[in-house]
Amino acid sequence: MIKIAFIGAGNMARAIIIGLVKSGVAPQSIMVANPSSQKRLALAEDFGVQQTNDNIAAAEFANVIVLSVKPHFISDVCQQIATAHVNKVIDIKDKTFISVAAGTTVAQIQQALNGNYPVIRVMPNTPSQVGLGMSGLFASAEVSDAEKAVSEKLMNAVGKSIWLQTEAQIDDIIAVAGSAPAYFFLFMEAMEKQAQQLGFNAQESRMLVEQTALGAAQMVAQNNIPISQLRENVTSKGGTTQAALKQFTDDGLETLVANAMNAAIMRAKEMAKLEPRN
Ligand SMILES: NC(=O)c1ccc[n+]([C@@H]2O[C@H](COP(=O)([O-])OP(=O)(O)OC[C@H]3O[C@@H](n4cnc5c(N)ncnc54)[C@H](OP(=O)(O)O)[C@@H]3O)[C@@H](O)[C@H]2O)c1
Repeated sequence: MIKIAFIGAGNMARAIIIGLVKSGVAPQSIMVANPSSQKRLALAEDFGVQQTNDNIAAAEFANVIVLSVKPHFISDVCQQIATAHVNKVIDIKDKTFISVAAGTTVAQIQQALNGNYPVIRVMPNTPSQVGLGMSGLFASAEVSDAEKAVSEKLMNAVGKSIWLQTEAQIDDIIAVAGSAPAYFFLFMEAMEKQAQQLGFNAQESRMLVEQTALGAAQMVAQNNIPISQLRENVTSKGGTTQAALKQFTDDGLETLVANAMNAAIMRAKEMAKLEPRN
């Protein structure tokens, strides 16, 4: 049986654990490790997973170790595990490491682990919390097909995933999916504000925007036709939608979106240089 340890019991660990348990993974095959007690106890109570404050106990328990701490703690956690291995407290030679940390490379993780262990980098996004996540996965050369399948199952429990051919594409995934829920939130906020300007109350504005966004996303999900076709289907010549879309185009929406996504990529690259403390 695959046993999974989460080192760090924060938002992302919780999101993945919810998905795993819902998809039928036995809670007893999951252990969470976290220094403070509140989040790990809540996970144990809510889902029946095992919990500890001891990262090494969790690492010993599992075949798959999910590094779900903030990027600046990854190095410390990996060095702690590597030291326990050197001191023969645990044996990590057959373990797989999955990192969800933004901006921490496979090479940095392997360096902190003091060996070329199989490492899979995953870039998830927050809709994982509601089972609608979108993740990009990149496997180091040491990862076997079986280990790939396990990590894919893990991430598909909380949404969808794609494999990346190069590690650099993790930054692209950040721009297209990782940071992207916030782009939609920003757009929805702007529409909500404008709805209020038009005289709808806060509750009505929220419902109008929320339901319209949900409906549009469902139409994309349920119709296997290009998104541009969906747009054209609802845009009558000379009509109201066309007037609004023309304004978006005239004001440079496409360039704005491209610039924003490029800004996310540039920031991811900067963070990769800055974040880990080796
Ligand atoms: N949230 C997202 O949308 C998202 C998306 C993509 C990637 N990620 C990545 O996911 C990772 C976790 O993010 P998050 O949002 O889940 O952060 P988070 O909610 O802050 O969770 C991190 C957890 O790690 C614990 N922790 C700190 N030091 C530790 C240590 N030495 N050993 C074990 N646990 C330790 C913290 O415990 P205390 O609270 O007790 O300090 C906290 O519960 C990050 O690397 C982030 O880049 C997150």
